Amino acid sequence: MTLSRRKAIALIAGGTILAAGTGFLSTRTPQKALAPWAAAGTYADPRKRALSYALLVPNPHNLQPWLVDLEGEDALSLYQDPDRRIPHTDPFDRQITIGLGCFIEQMTIAASLDGLRVDVTLFPDGPDSPVARAVFSDGGDPDPLAGAMLDRRSCKEPFAATPIEDAKVRELAAFATIYTDAPTVAALRELTVKAWMVEWETPRTREESIDLMRFGKAQINADPDGIALGGPFLESLMLAGALTREGQNDPASAAYKQGLEAYREMLLATPAYAVLTSPGNSRADQIATGARWLRLNLAATRAGLSLHPVSQCLQEYPEMAAQYGAVHDLLAAPGHTVQMLGRLGYGPQTPRTPRWPLEAKLRSS
Ligand SMILES: Cc1cc2nc3c(=O)[nH]c(=O)nc-3n(C[C@H](O)[C@H](O)[C@H](O)COP(=O)(O)O)c2cc1C
Repeated sequence: MTLSRRKAIALIAGGTILAAGTGFLSTRTPQKALAPWAAAGTYADPRKRALSYALLVPNPHNLQPWLVDLEGEDALSLYQDPDRRIPHTDPFDRQITIGLGCFIEQMTIAASLDGLRVDVTLFPDGPDSPVARAVFSDGGDPDPLAGAMLDRRSCKEPFAATPIEDAKVRELAAFATIYTDAPTVAALRELTVKAWMVEWETPRTREESIDLMRFGKAQINADPDGIALGGPFLESLMLAGALTREGQNDPASAAYKQGLEAYREMLLATPAYAVLTSPGNSRADQIATGARWLRLNLAATRAGLSLHPVSQCLQEYPEMAAQYGAVHDLLAAPGHTVQMLGRLGYGPQTPRTPRWPLEAKLRSS
């Protein structure tokens, strides 16, 4: 949930923000939670160097569900953390697995900067085993997308109405299906808003998100994952009592209504969409989707464009069945799966999101 600056100003009308004082407001950056971005690439072991970039990838609700064992001199195993799941909105771990696919791809891209190639075996010991075993060796050229790793974001803001230039659409069409035509864009705007309302008006799925919200710098630094609500504006709202966990979960509260309206406006401010589908829906398909999404996100960043996954209508729970059916009718061949749907356009550069440091994710070192 993001509140726009305008909504934030509306909510704090009355001057409460002044009481906060400028000193307080200027120190709201959660430096500790952002430190892993500055640490990327600073490790001596090339596997750790690659992993320090991998942990910066997009992943559902920023849960960071990865755990790693370093093995011998040149290998590692990647595991899915069984305690980091979102069972109500992602009951089959489809999205979680896509996030792990992003992780493997960025690890490989980062290793290429050191002139290393990474040979990856998925699920080497079957489905209940490590997600991947990776062996690093000499060889390979730097990946041309590597330069975008630190600037990549999921941009959860309204986009400008500016159309995307044909040359950029063609460039991104190498990574995903891009929709810019008015009928499809209009249909997807409406569908993403409807799906968002279903998720937010279904108590168990709303509460799954609210439980993952971190309110303000102290909470974000203590738990650098989930949905980080921080920065001077949102912290001012918290001080004023206008942004609370309870308020987010109370359909009668002003904050709840303002939040819904702000999110709707953001979803509608979308000039184009990027879509990934796959004929199958196996774990390997989901990992491959993650690799494709990460490359699309990096390529969009390189082109000066913003990308924002909007996954609600892709989610597999009974209340979402109508929207799930509609998005598949619109975007997928019969029997295929829409794996990712993203808003695409010109958005603002947004802050980095928090991460757990590499040390918290290594089971051996
Ligand atoms: C499979 C997948 C699904 C996602 N779905 C959503 C979504 O529905 N809405 C949203 O705002 N962000 C979504 N995200 C983006 C994550 O929230 C984001 O990657 C995470 O918070 C980290 O932020 P960053 O990508 O800016 O580094 C999704 C990401 C992935 C990989």
